[in-house]
Amino acid sequence: MNHPLATRFDGAAEIIAEIGARTPDARDHLAETRATIDAYHPKRLRLTVAAIIDETLSTKTFRMEGPDRESLPPFLAGQYVNVFIDGTSRPFAISSSPTRLDHYDLTVRRVPGGRISNLLIDELVPGRVLTTTGPMGTFHHNPLFHGDDLVFLAGGSGVAPAMSMIREIVDLGLDRSFHLIYGSRDAADVIFRSELETLAARHPGIRVDHVIAAPEPGWTGHSGFLTAEIIESLAGQLNNRMVYVCGPQALYPYALAQLTALGQPRKRIRFEANGAPSDPAAQEHWPAEVDPAAEVTVTVGAASFRTPRHRPLLDALEDNGIRPEAACRSGECSLCRVRVVKGEVHTAEEARLRLSDDRFGYTHSCVAYPLTDVRLDL
Ligand code: FES
Repeated sequence: MNHPLATRFDGAAEIIAEIGARTPDARDHLAETRATIDAYHPKRLRLTVAAIIDETLSTKTFRMEGPDRESLPPFLAGQYVNVFIDGTSRPFAISSSPTRLDHYDLTVRRVPGGRISNLLIDELVPGRVLTTTGPMGTFHHNPLFHGDDLVFLAGGSGVAPAMSMIREIVDLGLDRSFHLIYGSRDAADVIFRSELETLAARHPGIRVDHVIAAPEPGWTGHSGFLTAEIIESLAGQLNNRMVYVCGPQALYPYALAQLTALGQPRKRIRFEANGAPSDPAAQEHWPAEVDPAAEVTVTVGAASFRTPRHRPLLDALEDNGIRPEAACRSGECSLCRVRVVKGEVHTAEEARLRLSDDRFGYTHSCVAYPLTDVRLDL
């Protein structure tokens, strides 16, 4: 037995021999293997807007179907697809149930100044075909590590992945406890309100509490923000339950501080970031003397352009017609990695860099900001 692992631990040789006997040589089945991978994890999908559902004054759900209404690739509740439009792309969580693969529902909320969300809301019409990635992302329930007693803190359209998780629990009759604590600006802003109430009434494991920041007179529910006090008063002791957090960017540092104050360990909190920090200079390790509005020069190959320091490198590259691969746009998937050959960047805390990234000068361009003139290698 020549395998390098064979002498590393007891039983390794037997395991390697069994794997060898059970696994056909992949080289004999390359085309078949490729076809199976492509069917389940397609790099690109062509999806048609089949229907548009008005959820609230600021939110619409786009029901997307595949060609000839054929079944779409499977996904895990909580995952997203990345939509390519107008020379850029944005991830949108799937709000429909993974038990229904004849469509994906993408729930989009209007964001003040948000170019792509507003473009989708204002211009998409039934019949429009969009290119997307297949379903992606790691923000989903893992029964082995997350257990079956879950708390989900949602803000605004961050309720979309929670909706998919709840629909799945109800569709499959899963024995899982799911407590959604959902913060909205006002009661009219609550997305899926009547369906959430119906599903919570139908399924004993589902509980939904709304917390309204600026309630109208007559609102009798909870009001304010998702503070530690409110979370504790609604969810009780967290006792190491897994807590998911999804919402606008500002919710992450805020929710982390509240949950930490309640003694929740960081490893029992799952965040789904929603874009790059809009104010990177507010992050702790942004150098105090560096003006975020000042422009620097970014050079890539023979191309050079000026951009303000507070513009994420990925956005700045796209502004100038350079389009690296990207998906999550929040530092998680690593598809947008670039090497900083020269100069200094601020990489937001959200970036899930590997040790080797740091060592060899790579960063995730979607959450990296140029502090000085920089030269990049894509
Ligand atoms: S696009 Fe996913 S890490 Fe940048």
